[in-house]
Amino acid sequence: MVDYLREIAGLTGTKIGCDGGECGACTVLVDGTARHSCLTLAATLQSREIETVESLAHNGRLSAIQRGFHEQLGAQCGFCTPGMIMAAEGLLRENPNPSDAEIRHGMAANICRCTGYVKIITAVQTAAAEPSE
Ligand code: FES
Ligand code: FES
Repeated sequence: MVDYLREIAGLTGTKIGCDGGECGACTVLVDGTARHSCLTLAATLQSREIETVESLAHNGRLSAIQRGFHEQLGAQCGFCTPGMIMAAEGLLRENPNPSDAEIRHGMAANICRCTGYVKIITAVQTAAAEPSE
């Protein structure tokens, strides 16, 4: 799926890191649930709803989780950030008020080479604290 998204659909927000299910850089939502797009065969997704990082902002306004990452400086180089944001979006849809432990568990499939994860967790907490849109 990640090749389809990037090469055919032109949605290059989704990144390829390990290309083997280890890093989470390619995370998208399939029917609202986070999935590694590098491990998902596009041909199996007919009639499924796919959301990428490009789908979150509306009318130029960032979504709550995007604002959380922006405001809390949850990105450094930014390579992992689209996958982190989509994993967090999936987590918050399933559990709008996660505990710190639930955030850490929910984001465990996403790896960042730059940060100590503290600001990423704070970004998710910030988004969770916002009133629902
Ligand atoms: S690129 Fe898909 S998990 Fe790393
Ligand atoms: S911000 Fe650089 S890999 Fe996460």
